[in-house]
Formats: sequence, C-alpha cells, structure tokens
Amino acid sequence: MTTYSEYDVLIIGSGTAGLTLALQLADNARVAILSKDQLKESASLYAQGGISVVLDQADSIESHINDTLIAGAGLCDETSVRYTVEHARESIEWLIEQGVSFTKDGVTSETYHLTQEGGHSHRRVIHSADATGREVETTLLAKAIAHNNIALFPFHIGIDLITSQKQLGESKNSCLGCYVLDIKADTTHQFIAPTTVLATGGAGKVYLYTSNPDVSTGDGIAMGWRAGCDVANMEFVQFHPTCLYHPKAKSFLISEALRGEGAKLVLANGESFMERFHEQGELAPRDIVARAIDHEMKRLGDDCVYLDIRHQSAEFIESHFPTIHKRCLKLGIDITKEPIPVVPAAHYTCGGLVVNQQGQTQVEGLYAVGETAHTGLHGANRMASNSLLECLVYARSAALHIQSLLPFNTLLPAIPDWDASRARPAKEAIAISHNWDELRRFMWDYVGIVRNDDRLKRAERRLALLQQEIDEYYHQHHITSDLLELRNLADVAELIILSALKRRESRGLHYTLDYPEANTDQAAENTPIAGKSWELDSTL
Ligand code: FAD
Ligand code: SIN
Repeated sequence: MTTYSEYDVLIIGSGTAGLTLALQLADNARVAILSKDQLKESASLYAQGGISVVLDQADSIESHINDTLIAGAGLCDETSVRYTVEHARESIEWLIEQGVSFTKDGVTSETYHLTQEGGHSHRRVIHSADATGREVETTLLAKAIAHNNIALFPFHIGIDLITSQKQLGESKNSCLGCYVLDIKADTTHQFIAPTTVLATGGAGKVYLYTSNPDVSTGDGIAMGWRAGCDVANMEFVQFHPTCLYHPKAKSFLISEALRGEGAKLVLANGESFMERFHEQGELAPRDIVARAIDHEMKRLGDDCVYLDIRHQSAEFIESHFPTIHKRCLKLGIDITKEPIPVVPAAHYTCGGLVVNQQGQTQVEGLYAVGETAHTGLHGANRMASNSLLECLVYARSAALHIQSLLPFNTLLPAIPDWDASRARPAKEAIAISHNWDELRRFMWDYVGIVRNDDRLKRAERRLALLQQEIDEYYHQHHITSDLLELRNLADVAELIILSALKRRESRGLHYTLDYPEANTDQAAENTPIAGKSWELDSTL
C-alpha cells in the first residue's frame, strides 16, 4: 500500500551534498532526507585526502583556478571553476562553525595543516588526518538529526521521480516528488514535494573494481535521466591510481596525500617509473598516473605496483595517516616498514545531470548536487579534493535559490499510486546477482582505463541484452533494492558507453587507442545526451 508524505523539500541522499543543503534550508523549510542505507553510509564517509581551499599566503585563487583548468583538459566551464574556487573559504568556515575539526599544522594552534595532491601546484588541501570525510559526514549528520525541521528516512530507496508529464500527462515537465521503497518494511510510498534534490552520489559500482561504497550505483543520474534531464561528460570516469591490492580489502583507498608527502610508486623490483611518464612524477594529474600504472602492470604482467612511503618516520606516518596505517597493519602490511601493493580502481564520476549555478536541472522543481550533478567544474578530469568542495559550494547555492522561492503555497495535485499489480515475487535472485556481476565485469574489461571502439561496441551489444532482461524482470517481479540498483547501473553503463563512443579523441580521463590524440573540434562539440522521453519508457 502506498502512503503519502508531503514536505517542502525532498532530498534524496545523506552524503555531504544532501546534508549541507538540508542544514542550510531547515530553519525555513520542512525537509525530508532519504538514504538507502544507514544514514552515514556514503562516499563522503570514506573521503580521505581532504578539501581544496586557498589558505596559504603563497597560494592564490588564480593558481587554484589554473590548476583545476589544466586537470580538466580543456573541458571545464571557467565560470563554474571560478565560482567554486572563490566560495571555497566560506564553505570551510561554515564547516568549522558546524563543529568540523581539521588538523592543525602543529606550529601554532591557529593555522591548519595543508597537504598537497596530484595536479595542485601548492599545498592547499585542508584535512582531518586521513579521515576527512568521516569527520565532515558524522558532524553534519549529528546536526541534521538534532534539527526539528529535518525528517530522516534511512533504508528508504528512491525508485523513480514523480513528474507532471509522466504521472499526470501534462505537457510541462515538473518534478512532484519520488516513489520510494522502504527496504526494511518492503512497502512503497509517495514522497511529495514542490522541490526535490538528487544528492545520490556517483556510480563507481558500475565497475568491477572501485574505491566506492556499495551505495554508489548512480541512482540519481539514472532517475534524473529517465525523468528528462540531460546528462553530460559520462565518458570521464576517474580511476584512482592507488587502491589497496589485497584479497580481503574491499574498496580501500590509499590516499593521494601519501604521494603529496613524498611516497614513490615503484615496480616489484623497486624501480620507480612515474618520471618516465610525466615531469610532475607521482603528483601528475590522476588520469596520467592511473594510465602509467595500468601500462606498467600490462607490460610486465604484474597484478599490482607498490607505493613506498618509508622515507617518512614511523611517527609521521602514524600521525598523518592513522586510518591507512591501522587498516594495512590489520591486513599484515606495516607501511612504515614495507611498500604498499596498489592498483587503480574506478573512483569518481565526473559526468552527471546537467545543472546551472543554482543546481537546477531542466525539469522544474528538480535540483541535483554533489557527484550526481555536472556543474562544469571538473571538465575531462577532476582535480583531487575538488569534489567535497563542489558538494559544499553547490549545495549552498542551491539552498539559497530554493530559499528565495519559499514559502511554497502551491497545492500539489493527487498522484497515482505506485502500480505493483503486474508484479509477482521473484522465485530466485540469481538472475539479478548474475547480471550485476556480468555488467560490472564487461564495464571493467571493455570500458575501462584504456578503450577502443571494438571494445566499446562489444560492451554496447552485451548491455542491450542485459537491459532487455532487466526490463522484463522489472515489470514482472516485486521490486527489491538490488533490482532497482541493477536497473540504474545499466542506465549509467549505457550513458558511459554512448558518451565514450561519441568522443572520437583522447582527452583527460577518456583514452582510446583508436584516437590517441586530443581533437579541438571534437571538444567544441561537447553536447550532452538528451534526457529520456517518458513515452519511451513504460515503467509505470
Ligand atoms: P555521497 O556521499 O556518495 O552520498 C550519496 C547518498 O545518496 C548516500 O546517502 C546514499 O545512501 C544515498 N542514495 C543513493 N542512491 C539513493 C537512492 N536511490 N535512494 C535514496 N538514497 C540514495 N573527494 C574529495 O574532495 N576529497 C577526498 O579526500 C576524497 N576522498 C575520497 C575517498 C574515497 C574512498 C571515495 C570513494 C571518494 C573520495 N572523494 C573525495 C570523492 C567524494 O568523497 C565524493 O565525490 C563525495 O563525497 C560525494 O558526495 P555526495 O554527497 O554527492 O554523495
Ligand atoms: C584521496 O585521498 O586520494 C582522494 C582524494 C580525492 O578523491 O579527491
């Protein structure tokens, strides 16, 4: 049975972007936050390195802008870059006001320790040791839980957006809320609101190997696309160069901040190799480091390379990288005494739903913030630690815009119930788990760090088959969170493959053997993939 809940603002996702937006609105609006897992479970929780911000006297806004543009390989939107960088300091001050504690530099208690990561020409990454995300996420979440105007719904997964075109047959397309599955109770609900915000994070789980947590299945990108939003830059999937290579370490990242503190990438024989690939060596932009590692692993037939930070004292390592040190030690690797085995893994979705500076999509009443959105900041490659910054800056600008529209007086129309009449309980879950594995494996093998047209077309053919099966299954069976996520992953895979096939050049994170050079004409044609028309999708 479908129940009905009405709020001023419905936020789908409780990571940094969703919580920041909620806290900035809640004094004036009734806010609901949905989260498909425990409230804190998100990519935000696992962020390690930190947040980029110009605080050092020797650094400058122009330098941060310039580094971001260089990393973005010609595809950043300069207005978005400037806007983000110029609002960084106030975003950090806001976090500190909320109670977030950043590591001090130890010289005086007034200044913060800044670290350096790939692509940055200065030390400008503020951090909480090597667990910045945990500090930010848990602090903001505690604030949200304590706020009277914020209702939190853990284990509630958004199924599909409710739009005036699709559900009411109107010509204008506005968003009226979301159909939601309460995972624990196994019941569906309508959450109705004049403003809905997608803050569902990225889609790293579309690849077999990823630094992302299980919740990163691209749900917001897929839901927004199905509701009619344009999607841009999905070919630019960032592979983080250094995830821990160990059979028992699922998705554990070894922060770029280690390389910022001088750690060297070496082969099994101890030979360092990054200087052969880029003058910035270990601190070259991520696409270059990840491709160099991939190249060396393939050339030598090795399973991993190694990251060596033994030039630093044990005391330094334990105080700057306590999380990484402890986790590795638990797995039998003492990073103060031996190099760390590492491999690249899918890490960040640079593309997403196209939004303006206020976070608005093309669908009226629908916003997207954080990793789900494409603001133009990252271009063809995101610079390290610019993501949490984007979450903060754009959540604030979206909040200010939504605030300017309050109070909402519009009486929302009656919405049809979620139609489960055609669905029967699934006899076995193997079809879903098999398709999850198959999808993630062919995305890794055919749409990974190095691509070519043959592999992309092979992936496209396999995906078409899978999508047909998923669609049939979706219409015939009761929905579960696994099925919803699989359907969304398949949509995201389609967007990545279509975008990669369209880009007949190599640029930033998209590297193809068929077109190994950058092509300026192609870059100028950087058109998004149009949102789906609801008539093409007979979901309900
Ligand atoms: P998330 O934090 O991923 O939150 C998404 C939320 O949406 C979750 O609550 C999830 O449960 C919910 N959700 C998803 N789908 C649904 C649905 N259908 N229904 C309901 N809820 C849903 N960036 C930096 O700038 N600096 C770093 O140091 C850094 N380190 C990183 C380390 C790791 C290991 C990883 C994985 C990423 C790192 N990043 C870093 C990237 C950064 O953490 C993310 O881009 C950022 O946290 C994304 O925040 P978000 O709020 O957009 O999404
Ligand atoms: C890291 O700590 O290496 C991750 C930083 C990021 O993804 O921005």
